[in-house]
Amino acid sequence: MQAKRTFPLIQTVFIYPNNKEDISVMQRVNMRSLCTLSFVLVLLAPMALKAAEPEDIIKYRQNIMKAIGGHTAAAGSIVQGKVDYKNQLADHARALQALIGDIPGLFPKDSDFGDTKAQDVVWSNRVEFEKRAKDSKTKVDLFAKALQGGNQQTIGASFKAVGESCKACHKDFRKKEE
Ligand code: HEC
Repeated sequence: MQAKRTFPLIQTVFIYPNNKEDISVMQRVNMRSLCTLSFVLVLLAPMALKAAEPEDIIKYRQNIMKAIGGHTAAAGSIVQGKVDYKNQLADHARALQALIGDIPGLFPKDSDFGDTKAQDVVWSNRVEFEKRAKDSKTKVDLFAKALQGGNQQTIGASFKAVGESCKACHKDFRKKEE
């Protein structure tokens, strides 16, 4: 019963023992999971405490944009019939839906300087930026929906609309290639 005095709280919270043997086994298990939990929390602490550096945010969003670009280009090759991977089209659409879910979130304040092609208007005309981000998301959703319908013409048209929505934002919010 020594153990019972040592860990009364743990016992009350975690354990519903039937006999003494159960008590000691379960206490050991619970102590072990508590140790593991503390260890994980210690590992996670720096991630939670350290604010992200602007250059890391910029790199991150550029990688997300590259991924969006990759899936769009790959989907385009299939839609245009250049390659025969029709069974993967829905995968690209799903990936796009996931990646394009929160574009404004990739452009927080203080990530507007350094090695970025984002124009200042991303921050000074936020309302319009968010509108175009939302429009692009809507177009990707419609494309995914068209795939379920299976009508080739609708698929083609909805994919074209996705591409136009990317351009509509880049035109005003991204610096031209040097
Ligand atoms: C709401 C605005 C917006 C929308 C919508 C948008 N983008 Fe972008 N995109 C940007 C901005 C701004 C940058 C520049 C980011 C930077 O350099 O920090 C960018 C960068 C890129 C890049 C270059 C990444 C790199 O650094 O190599 C690609 C590729 C790209 N976008 C593809 C797309 C595609 C494809 C779509 C549509 C499916 C799309 N984007 C939708 C704003 C947008």
